[in-house]
Amino acid sequence: MQSTLRESASKMSKDTDPSLVVADSLADEVRRDLTQSPKQLKPHYLYDTLGSRLFEAICALPEYPITRAEHGLLDTHAEAISADMAGPVTLVELGGGNGQKLAQLIEPLARSNWGLRVELVDVSVTALDLAKQTLERFRGLPVICHETTYELGLARVTRHRPDQGGMLVAFLGSNLGNLDSRSALGFVSVVRSVLRSGDRFLLGLDLVKPESELLLAYDDPLGVTAAFNKNILSRLNRELGSDFSLEHFRHHVEWNEAASRVEMHLESLCSQTVWIPGAHCRIPFADGEMIWTESSRKYQLHEIKALGAQAGFTVREQWVDTEARFAVTCFEVV
Ligand code: TRP
Repeated sequence: MQSTLRESASKMSKDTDPSLVVADSLADEVRRDLTQSPKQLKPHYLYDTLGSRLFEAICALPEYPITRAEHGLLDTHAEAISADMAGPVTLVELGGGNGQKLAQLIEPLARSNWGLRVELVDVSVTALDLAKQTLERFRGLPVICHETTYELGLARVTRHRPDQGGMLVAFLGSNLGNLDSRSALGFVSVVRSVLRSGDRFLLGLDLVKPESELLLAYDDPLGVTAAFNKNILSRLNRELGSDFSLEHFRHHVEWNEAASRVEMHLESLCSQTVWIPGAHCRIPFADGEMIWTESSRKYQLHEIKALGAQAGFTVREQWVDTEARFAVTCFEVV
């Protein structure tokens, strides 16, 4: 039997669990982020139940190569990624989505590593549920879910880790690309600071490629990505009672060459005012005004290695797919 424990924010008191900040702060964050200039909405709000499903659909789009390229690399190199790690291994995935990449990493470990345990950290309960289902095929494997932010989840996981054995922390899907350069280094440094000698950090990042390909990946002709982005407004309508008219906003994508990132926005198509009762505010929009929802930084191979090194990691190996679209880098603490 698979043993599963969800440390659910909703079941704990605010005094005992800081992760409740995630659940409680939607109204406060929305008010603050929509009253500043330029307006923004925090990307993790994209991933409610519907958003997580739409993101799954994005991963299946021919225009979005990230997921397929990463699956290919993990297929070929899963064995090497965890080779020679001291057991029992704790495998941690941050923001992992549906658990399919994790399953690829588990495959060789489940064969050779007695006492393997898996810890999932995600703000999306839907993603955690999907991942748990995917991992059901590994009978008897302990899977512990943390419905919280990366930092808080990582802190919990490392606080309770066994004295013996190595830890492999996976941060895939180019999720680090959603942080700006300074925050990315800060985040990788946090990961490094909670790991110990022999531990590994697996980082999957999308590489710089021609602008036309990048724009298509974030603005597909079927409109799935547009729906994913606009769903953040429906979520506010559902959860905060706001009156965003979805037809008065448009998904807008730009490649920012200087910052090496794709920038996702929602553009107001007219001058309008939106009432958000749950956040006690009225938000005026000018015609053409943007809400920034997410950016996706694209890396070069040497930048990825340098980032890990700056955070105090040693590069074990770096793998790139044949079309040089995506890189998986395995760092270690020596
Ligand atoms: N982490 C994903 C990425 O940067 C998220 C993503 C894909 C996304 N498509 C999007 C976020 C569109 C906002 C809008 O590739």
